[in-house]
Amino acid sequence: AQVDKAGHKHFMAKEIAEQPRVIGEALRFYLSGEGDTIRLPGEGIDFTAIDRLSMVACGTAFYACMTAKYWFEQLAGLPVDVDIASEFRYREPPIPARTMALFVSQSGETADTLAALRYCEGKAARIVSVVNVAESSIARESDLALPIMAGAEIGVASTKAFTCQLTVLLLLALEAAHQRGRISQEELSDHLSALRSLPVALNAALDLSGKIKNAARKLSESTDVLFLGRGLMYPLALEGALKLKEISYIHAEAYASGELKHGPIALIDKTMPVVVMAPRDALFDKTVSNMQEVMARGGKVMLITDAEGEAEASDQTWQVLVMPRIDAVLTPILYALPAQLLAYHTAVAKGTDVDQPRNLAKSVTVE
Ligand code: G6P
Repeated sequence: AQVDKAGHKHFMAKEIAEQPRVIGEALRFYLSGEGDTIRLPGEGIDFTAIDRLSMVACGTAFYACMTAKYWFEQLAGLPVDVDIASEFRYREPPIPARTMALFVSQSGETADTLAALRYCEGKAARIVSVVNVAESSIARESDLALPIMAGAEIGVASTKAFTCQLTVLLLLALEAAHQRGRISQEELSDHLSALRSLPVALNAALDLSGKIKNAARKLSESTDVLFLGRGLMYPLALEGALKLKEISYIHAEAYASGELKHGPIALIDKTMPVVVMAPRDALFDKTVSNMQEVMARGGKVMLITDAEGEAEASDQTWQVLVMPRIDAVLTPILYALPAQLLAYHTAVAKGTDVDQPRNLAKSVTVE
């Protein structure tokens, strides 16, 4: 079927706006009728039969994997390796027995990811993929393919596929945690109930679009932007920087907040905005002190946080975006939206080709 922009100026805007709905669809696919159990298709996955997870992907899907590493390790106590497919496939990594290999790909056709999957054949205990295109090569060559239910994604810069990948990966991490006896049924139900109300929070994040548009107008005058985050917000900082550079061509990079003093702090001056993603969580105080280090050097901080974080942050911040408060485990999915909107509105302000950025392809099927 032909996909149109449904009244939006760009496919990217449409796909950003679709996220509450498609994530709702992914949840309906993976949750039982009562919503308190996770149902995987086919034979499912026995997480007690594996000791280790090896996740491989490219681009935005790689950042979804990086995020999932925090979830699998913290919730399920499962050691995780995360690799860029083009590195993994040529490094000849040993794959210990009882390793599950997990490939994440929107298109299911990325050449390096497919080659990495083939490398794992006959070595990994199980090959699982998380894909958007069910008939794709990666899906067909996996022992189990898990759909993300995002629907066709046309914009080259991935948006709804990313948050749907995160949703499915979080469900897998919760299922692993439950099977491995790390969380009780009650804790599982609590997380799932928070997940079921996520679309409401996502709509509230979309309502910030006007405010983000104003901030983006200022950002569009910069030549360099730094993104910072800790814990679950670190991979999201990387994704925020990737989105911005892909479509606005502004040089952007991301660091784990704790690494600021090991290099990037040398770049801080009043010309380089610093986007800090930090819900009020256990690591917030540490991030606040990093923000102060930036502001003490004249750096302009754009803080993306919740109301509690706003109350505790310094009033010297340049801009603050206040997000709804949700279960800490879910914050990467929610905070992806302001990161996407910031890139989108910055690109629109600069007049670049949002849906077809120069030099980039939606699906990289050649090396
Ligand atoms: C390209 C796209 C990115 C995507 C990456 C991986 O670079 O422009 O948006 O994240 O490929 O694609 P995949 O289909 O494997 O997720």
